[in-house]
Amino acid sequence: MQALANFMLSETQILDIASRFQKAMTDGLAGKNSSLKMLPSFLTKPTGQEKGVYLAVDFGGTNVRVLTVELQGNGAYSTLQRRSFPLRDRGKGYDFTSPETAGSDLFQFIAEPMDTILVPNQSYSLGFTFSFPSRQAGVNQAVLIKWTKEIQTSGVEGRDVAELLQKALAVRNLTRVMPMAVINDTVGTLLTAAYGDRHADIGSICGTGHNTCYLEPSSPITGQPMIINMESGNFNELQATAYDLQLDRQSQLPGEQCLEKMVGGQYIGELTRIIIQDFINKKLLFASGRPEIFYTPYQIKAEHIAGILADKSPDLTGVSHWLKTICQIHCSPLEERTTLRNIASAVITRSIQLIAATYTGVLKHIDPGLEHRHTIAIDGSLYELMPGYADKLNNILKNIFKDKPGFVTTKLTKDGSGVGAAIAAAIVEE
Ligand code: GLC
Repeated sequence: MQALANFMLSETQILDIASRFQKAMTDGLAGKNSSLKMLPSFLTKPTGQEKGVYLAVDFGGTNVRVLTVELQGNGAYSTLQRRSFPLRDRGKGYDFTSPETAGSDLFQFIAEPMDTILVPNQSYSLGFTFSFPSRQAGVNQAVLIKWTKEIQTSGVEGRDVAELLQKALAVRNLTRVMPMAVINDTVGTLLTAAYGDRHADIGSICGTGHNTCYLEPSSPITGQPMIINMESGNFNELQATAYDLQLDRQSQLPGEQCLEKMVGGQYIGELTRIIIQDFINKKLLFASGRPEIFYTPYQIKAEHIAGILADKSPDLTGVSHWLKTICQIHCSPLEERTTLRNIASAVITRSIQLIAATYTGVLKHIDPGLEHRHTIAIDGSLYELMPGYADKLNNILKNIFKDKPGFVTTKLTKDGSGVGAAIAAAIVEE
């Protein structure tokens, strides 16, 4: 099981990654060569007193959401209306994420459903969450650096997405909608938590993708506090195993998004599949054959891993059921099921350890004397749903900062990417 031992990090290794990450942050901020882009948001934290009804668009994957949010002041908010719609639907014969689609068509498609959730004759300020690496020169301007997460629509890379949205609104005659801010989903998550919690100063997504932002005490642009989107999924100073290298080689963007490929929900199933395939080839698993599912890329999903890890029965009946129904393996000894569980557990544990390491780097950067309390606002399916994920993450952080009880807390901030766009619009408007 040496193969799996490489996935287990000691506390010393975690701390070493944390300091490399911290160095990459300072290098990125100083404009030196770094895998962390450290993108400015031109936003700081809300006061919690912002009030009003705002329109938000949340675009971070193949589903887009439009919502109206009422900010009530005193840190309270509620979602009034919400619509979610896919950008591709084979049944209906459209795909706005393919290279054959022009950016202007994609943005018009996004603008179209807005009207259906708005009160007639009322004007709205709009916050736009656009969760792809984008360079901002102001709060309402964001040039897409590169598509991630399988979106390939033409004519958007290198363009200002706020302008594309503005043009689409004009075409749809939605002149009563006024775009105020473009933000990343991590920034939305932080804004949402900070609206009601003054200790929140780090926002993170642990879902299909992975990324973290934080409140930089002194932005290199203004010398004032500013939220920085690190695009930390691209962090690359990590010890890759042969399995990671194989996954990277076969991925859409080889050499990029290294951390995201080790920790993100989009990849952990595939990484597990690659390891299982190697075990089968080495005759350590399923001696009777080569089950198709383990030889087909991206067939193992994060939900499967969650199912395997949720099985707490002594003879792993859940894993046995999964093998029968999904993998067509009708007879597997307990030993094999245990090996499978160990593989899934190793992949997930490393994901948690790496993310904890990056949070440690951020905490030491913003608070070298460890003097203040910090809340890390987190959204995403891994943190919310993967068995043991949140608890293990908290335990690692608690251990690292054991001399400072209460120093850091993590908090599930659901729907922060959408609500945060409304908060951003309100901050800009004030
Ligand atoms: C990808 C994107 C990043 C986003 C993250 C989570 O890493 O590049 O901008 O925050 O996914 O959605």
